[in-house]
Amino acid sequence: MNAHIPVLLDPILENINFSNYPVIFDGTYGGGGYTDKFLDNQAIVFACDLDNTVKPNSNKNLTFANQSYSEYIKTFEDNFFDVIVLDLGFSSNQLTSSKRGFSYQNDDEIFDLRYEISDNFTPAWKLACGKPVENFLPQFWRKIQQKRRFRC
Ligand SMILES: C[S@@+](CC[C@H](N)C(=O)[O-])C[C@H]1O[C@@H](n2cnc3c(N)ncnc32)[C@H](O)[C@@H]1O
Repeated sequence: MNAHIPVLLDPILENINFSNYPVIFDGTYGGGGYTDKFLDNQAIVFACDLDNTVKPNSNKNLTFANQSYSEYIKTFEDNFFDVIVLDLGFSSNQLTSSKRGFSYQNDDEIFDLRYEISDNFTPAWKLACGKPVENFLPQFWRKIQQKRRFRC
């Protein structure tokens, strides 16, 4: 179920001229809140999301890739798009999922913070423990997360 409520959608829609069937790049598809409205307004949309669990319904005017926007945009020529939109951050679906380490309500692997779900993913806390921040980050997380487990 998509629980994500898009923010800033109205001002974005107000600032796009839909009369000429614009070609739009939505680099952070999420729950599709932006793209759905663009498609409703007869735009052609190229969208992507780093989260490989995000799978939009098919639409003849939508091309989608599970890829980072920084990589996907390179596959297009300069000035290909009339509009480029990035709605940076997390979607509500990611924050409430029990598998990604964002939620404080569930017993996730601590400080996991995964956008994509794959077997070869290295959780954020393992990366942090091998870096210079290792001296303070565990203590920091121990303090703010109190009862939660954390070991480097
Ligand atoms: C705030 S949500 C977008 C919500 C969307 N505008 C909507 O209305 O449903 C941000 C999305 O950006 C995605 N994201 C984060 N970093 C990304 C990246 N480098 N490339 C592509 N997507 C990314 C996240 O996975 C998340 O789904």
